[in-house]
Amino acid sequence: MKGNRIIGTGMGLPARVVTNDDLAKIVDTTDEWIFSRTGIRERRIAEDHETTSDFGALGATNAMEMAGIGPEEIDLIIVATLSPDRLLPSTACLVQGKIGAKNAACFDLEAACSGFVYGLAVANGMMPDLGVKTALVIGAETLSRVLDWTDRNTCVLFADGGGAAILRHDGDRESGLLSTYLKADGSAPPPWLAVEPGVADLNPLSEYGSKDFAIRMEGKEVFKFGVRALPDAINGALERAEGVTLDDVKLILPHQANVRIIEAAAKNLGIPKERFFINLDKYGNTSAGTVPIALDDANRQGLIQEGDVIALAGFGAGLTWAGAIVRW
Ligand code: ACO
Repeated sequence: MKGNRIIGTGMGLPARVVTNDDLAKIVDTTDEWIFSRTGIRERRIAEDHETTSDFGALGATNAMEMAGIGPEEIDLIIVATLSPDRLLPSTACLVQGKIGAKNAACFDLEAACSGFVYGLAVANGMMPDLGVKTALVIGAETLSRVLDWTDRNTCVLFADGGGAAILRHDGDRESGLLSTYLKADGSAPPPWLAVEPGVADLNPLSEYGSKDFAIRMEGKEVFKFGVRALPDAINGALERAEGVTLDDVKLILPHQANVRIIEAAAKNLGIPKERFFINLDKYGNTSAGTVPIALDDANRQGLIQEGDVIALAGFGAGLTWAGAIVRW
């Protein structure tokens, strides 16, 4: 598997910042409640004209700039999202059009908050045998369109934005993706975390932004699942990365849902919380967007250097969970 390296990262966020105090004006909540229960201080929310492909394209542009490549070099675009611009065409094709990646094959992938790590695994599997030398993997969302803005249980948690990574095959290198580990459990009751009610299944053309078509969540069940899934995603990926142990991992970039889930996962793994990169205070839970946003944030802060081993880990609706080990 070695030789498929991440050569560029980028994020694409809406400019509009919405603080906890702003939300306290529309639902019965407080900054103190949201921050103490989740770790979130503020998040980015799209303007009416902004869509998931805008955030994906912006993240991709930033990642291409870091990688020093042009759009025509990209052979594959995967967009992980649960909030596509439209059901048809795919958001990946819309991103392709926006960035001018005219040589790329394009498709979307839906694995909720695990989507970006799933996308890395799929791209990795297509390199280089299926003709892919350079892949663009994006995780991006406009969750504000599938939120019930009168439901304080959910609207304070989720947010908009995304990130991207450029994966390049270089067979001579020992670095790159060392392993991936993908899991799912479709037996969990949908009400734990789903777009509800079933109108979405009956009529997939229901309008976004309607109260009839919004994320519902059993917070406590999802919390318990996250505390189990995060360590499993990391350990599962480590088991597949030959000769690499948790001690070798410099930084873990987890799905950013709740700082208390990350703290509990750190305790389960027997490591300090400081080994995890956390930025959900600034961006909230952007589902498939959190891991690539965290990756780019950490990368641009200089926290990941050549040769470092890092772990990426996602968990979310489905249920799905996934991990990846990367040597930078
Ligand atoms: N402001 C004030 N009060 C609130 C709010 C709010 N925004 N939201 C809920 N409450 C109230 C509830 O109504 C409830 O009141 P009640 O006890 O009178 O019925 C009470 O707060 C619940 O409090 P707790 O049980 O202490 O809340 P908890 O500590 O479980 O925290 C939370 C709730 C933050 C939702 C937590 O359960 C959680 O983070 N769960 C996981 C969420 C998650 O990770 N989701 C996404 C993962 S996957 C994906 O991203 C797609």
